[in-house]
Amino acid sequence: MIGKLNHVAIVVPDLEAAAKLYRETLGATVSEAKDMPANGVTTVFVRLPNTSVELLHPLGEGSPVASFLERNPSGGIHHICYEVEDILAARERLKAEGARILGDGEPKTGAHGKPTLFLHPKDFCGTLVELEEA
Ligand code: CO
Repeated sequence: MIGKLNHVAIVVPDLEAAAKLYRETLGATVSEAKDMPANGVTTVFVRLPNTSVELLHPLGEGSPVASFLERNPSGGIHHICYEVEDILAARERLKAEGARILGDGEPKTGAHGKPTLFLHPKDFCGTLVELEEA
């Protein structure tokens, strides 16, 4: 059911320093920072030949990544995102398998303007999984 690895998301305490690290030290193509108020994050995209890395930093009150950064002050991998062809079909299959969908279970528009869902880390080897309709 899952297809390509769309991105790995890393929460960072200093977005500018992290973007510089990926651009200069690792020699990657790095986007400008973009505020995403609806998602409570500022993002920088690192474009790799086969996937992307999303650098995330909290934006505004109640950011979903703020508590993560409190627990992991130097940053860390926050989630991985797999592509699916049909997000509602994927949701129904996962529910039937007993997996828990986070939030109200309805797809939300993610960082790429596509419908996304998050799956409970306890059901997926301790990893927060995002599904994005490709
Ligand atoms: Co993501």
